[in-house]
This record gives sequence, C-alpha cells and structure tokens, in this order.
Amino acid sequence: MNYFMSFILCLCLTWTIIQAFYSISRSKVTSKKLPPGPKAFPIIGNLLELVGHKPQKSMAKLANTHGPLMTLMLGQKTTIVISSADLAKEVLQQHDQFFCNRTIPESVVAGNEHEFSLPWLPVSAKWRNLRRICKSHLFANQILDANQNLRRKKVQELLADIHNSSLNGDAVDIGKAAFKTSLNLLSNTIFSVDLADPNSATGRELSKLVHSILEVGSRPNLADYFPVLKKVDPQGIRRQMTIYFGKMIDLFSSIISQRLLQRKTLGSIKNNDMLDTLLRISEESTGEIDKTQIARLFVDLFLAGNDTTSATLEWAMAELLYNPEVLSKAKAELKQIIGKGNAMVESDIDRLPYLQAIVKETFRLHPPVPLLLPRKAGAHVEIQGFSVPKGAQVLVNIWAIGRDASIWEIPNSFEPGRFMGSEIDVKGRNFELIPFGAGRRMCPGLPLALRMLHLMLGSLIHTFDWKVEGGFKPKDIYFEEKFGLTLQKAKPLRAIPIMV
Ligand code: HEM
Repeated sequence: MNYFMSFILCLCLTWTIIQAFYSISRSKVTSKKLPPGPKAFPIIGNLLELVGHKPQKSMAKLANTHGPLMTLMLGQKTTIVISSADLAKEVLQQHDQFFCNRTIPESVVAGNEHEFSLPWLPVSAKWRNLRRICKSHLFANQILDANQNLRRKKVQELLADIHNSSLNGDAVDIGKAAFKTSLNLLSNTIFSVDLADPNSATGRELSKLVHSILEVGSRPNLADYFPVLKKVDPQGIRRQMTIYFGKMIDLFSSIISQRLLQRKTLGSIKNNDMLDTLLRISEESTGEIDKTQIARLFVDLFLAGNDTTSATLEWAMAELLYNPEVLSKAKAELKQIIGKGNAMVESDIDRLPYLQAIVKETFRLHPPVPLLLPRKAGAHVEIQGFSVPKGAQVLVNIWAIGRDASIWEIPNSFEPGRFMGSEIDVKGRNFELIPFGAGRRMCPGLPLALRMLHLMLGSLIHTFDWKVEGGFKPKDIYFEEKFGLTLQKAKPLRAIPIMV
C-alpha cells in the first residue's frame, strides 16, 4: 500500500511539474503574441506533427489550418513558418537585416565548419569577402563564358555514354547520370578534374564523401531540437561529420598543393578554372583568401551545388516523360533554334524560352531546397501584428508557395506554358518563385546552376527520344518525394534512350 501511495504521489508530482512547465512556456508564448499554431506538447512541442519524411508537406497542411504565418515548437526551438509569397518578401527583403543569419545545425559545428563556411558564417567582413569573390570572380557571366568549354566537353561525354546505352537498348538511371555529370561539370569548372570518374581513386573518394555528408547531414538530429543533448551528440552525427569534413578538406588541399607545384615547376599554365582564379587572387593580394580558405570554399561549392542541380534535372526529365505534349514542344523548339544533329551550347539558352519555362515550372513544383535553411531572428521583429522573438528560427516553405492556389492556376499541374511571356524569374525578385532563396543570402551559384541545368536538359532531349522503362506507373507513386538536404525523387527515374 505504501509503495502504491508513493507511486501515485510521484505520478501526481510529475504531472504537476509538466503542467507547470507547459503553462509557463505557453504563457510566455501568449504574452508575446506569437503567430498562431497547433497546440504544443511539453518538451517535444510539435515534433510529433512532423514525424515522417516530408516536413514541407506536413507544414503546408498545418498552415492551411493556422495560416501562412505560423508558430511551431520544434522541441525547444520556437520556429516561425512562412508559407506565402507576401510574407516571404517581408522576411527576406523588408526585414532582411534581421533574418540574414542562419541557425547553425550541430552537424556543421563538426570540424568548425560554421566558422569558415559560406552558408553558415554570419553576415560579416569574412562572409562579404567570400560572397564578393564568388560574384566577381567565380560566377560572373564573362568568367562562366570563358570556361564553358570545360562543361561542354563533359556534356558531350554524357551524351556518348547515353548513346552506348541506346545502342544496347539499356535503360539509363537519370538520377545517377545527372549526379555524375553535375559532379563532373562542377569539378571541371572548379579545378579541371573529373571527380566522377570511376577509374579515379580521388573521384570515387569524393563521390562517397559527398553522398555520406548529404546522407548523414539530412538525418533529423535530436541535438538540434534539444540543446541539452548537444554535448552528448546522441546519434553520433557531429562525430561522423567531423570525419567526413576533415577528409574532404584534405582531399581538396592535396589537389591545391599539386596545382601549386605544377605552377612552380611548369610555370603558370592557364587552366582557366576557379582554382586558377583563386590562386591568382591569393598571390596578388594579401589576406583576401589563402589555401585553407580555398579548400573550405570548395567544400561549400560541392555540397551546395551538386545535389541541388542533379535533383532538379531528374525531376525535369520525369515531368517531361509524363507530359509528352510538353516534351514534343520542347523538342520542336530545340530543333528550330539549334537544328537537328547540332550540339546545344550555353549561349543557346537565351534563345530557348520554352526550355527556360520548363526549368522554372520544375523549380515551382519540385524545389530542390523545399524549406529554406532556417534563418535566426537577430532581433525582435513584428510581422503583421505578431511577434517574432529574437533567437527564433524562421523557415520559409517555398514548396508550399509553389502550390498556392491564390497565385497559381491549377497549382498541381505541370504547365510550363504559364511562364511563357511572363516576367517571373528565379532571381529572387518574384517571391512566388524563389528556389534559390532571396535577399543577401541568396544562392551565389545561381548563374552556374542555370547554365548546367539548361545545357544538360536541352542536350538530353535534343539528342534522344526517351521511353520510361516498364511503361508509365501511377503518377502519385512515381513522383513520390524523399526529403533530405535536398528534395529527391524517392523512386529513381529509369528511361530508355533512342537516338533521334
Ligand atoms: C538547382 C541548383 C541550386 C539551387 C536550387 C540552390 C538553392 C539554394 C538556396 C535555396 C540557398 C539558400 C538561399 C537563402 O537562404 O535565401 C542556397 C545557398 C547557397 N548555394 Fe545554392 N542552389 C543551387 C546550386 C548551387 C550551386 C551550383 C552552387 C555553387 C557551385 C551553390 C552554392 C550555394 C552557396 C555557397 C550557398 C550559401 C550562400 C550564403 O549563405 O551566403 N548553389 N542555394
């Protein structure tokens, strides 16, 4: 009996503490007038509502009930979710100065990545310097024009591989081909090396590292939601990432050392790639960038640039194969502008408005970064009469904005024609379509990404006809998404190429 009584007493006490904790946290919440949101449980908050693999969808569903400005408690983190173009504009443009820094996930605290890395550095002299180098020296149009031959060669190799498959009647795994080609396009633009070459040990190692970092980095990390767990690193994510980041930096450092040696022994050979440019900057001026920072910057470029580009290409091909009338219109445009049998080049892109519309429509329906990396409120900000407290994290759900029926007619349908004659672009000016983000933290790689995407997609459909392996499957199943650091197709697209 005694035992029973003390058990009951213990239960009551625990319940009272939980209730007290809950009401304190709620009262804090209500007195500050946070935006509305679903009821939060003590300690775990709303995490249960997001269980599953598609947080962008769960959040969009919740926003239908609670509105486009919504509060969620993700564990201990007050999170404000934005799900409309107008509010995205308010946060990313009007109040950009307060939301221009990101919350740092535990996975990048590994190896102190956050103290060197462009996506995680706060807006500061160091960050501005790296952004300026990207804008003026790496992604400027005249630079990309000058090194487009590096990419053209890689696309020709992709087409030759696919030609071989077409001769044997073999299906091509479009996602894998896209990943390999994007990696090679990037690695050739960056340091004139084929990193996706299966015969190169360095290439194999890098592909493995990129995959591992993206895989481990996309696992939900309890330490991000419950800061008390930071030290414990319960899933070992920080430990694994430290190893992967370290290996990647070593790999890039050795490529840089080899180039430096080559320059010393053979004189300054012009590779015309990003590494040449960065070494020239580091030699000409002191303090702008050194060898270690170059290696760190390359880590950022590979991690941010590869999966995003290849996932978009796979989605675009999937949509084209499921919408044959769109595909034949695109092919007709390519045939008219480029001519049968001629290879597409980057300077053709401007003359291919329908191909551009297809890429925009793919971004609208399948943004590879569906939730913008969370921004951290640098001050208390009032938005539409509600309070966003200092330190809260702000998530912009661009996936939800792409499905907003008040902006888009028949939002779930793939209709590139909606962009023909429209002024809407993806450069952060039109908040209904912001796959590259907006404001000062917007993606610096956009000019290269758009070139790579249009070139690969245009070349694949101009050179081949395509047939889905095994015939059409129901679109709902076939188009299922897999959430990670980028939004991938859950089921790979396999298609048989037929030489035109
Ligand atoms: C389809 C391709 C791509 C998409 C959709 C994409 C999208 C994004 C998005 C949404 C952001 C965050 C923007 C924000 O918070 O407002 C971002 C940041 C970034 N992206 Fe991209 N990206 C792509 C390709 C690339 C490429 C090719 C590179 C470089 C080679 C790159 C490098 C970066 C970097 C370094 C950042 C961090 C910038 C900063 O925080 O200052 N991205 N990207």
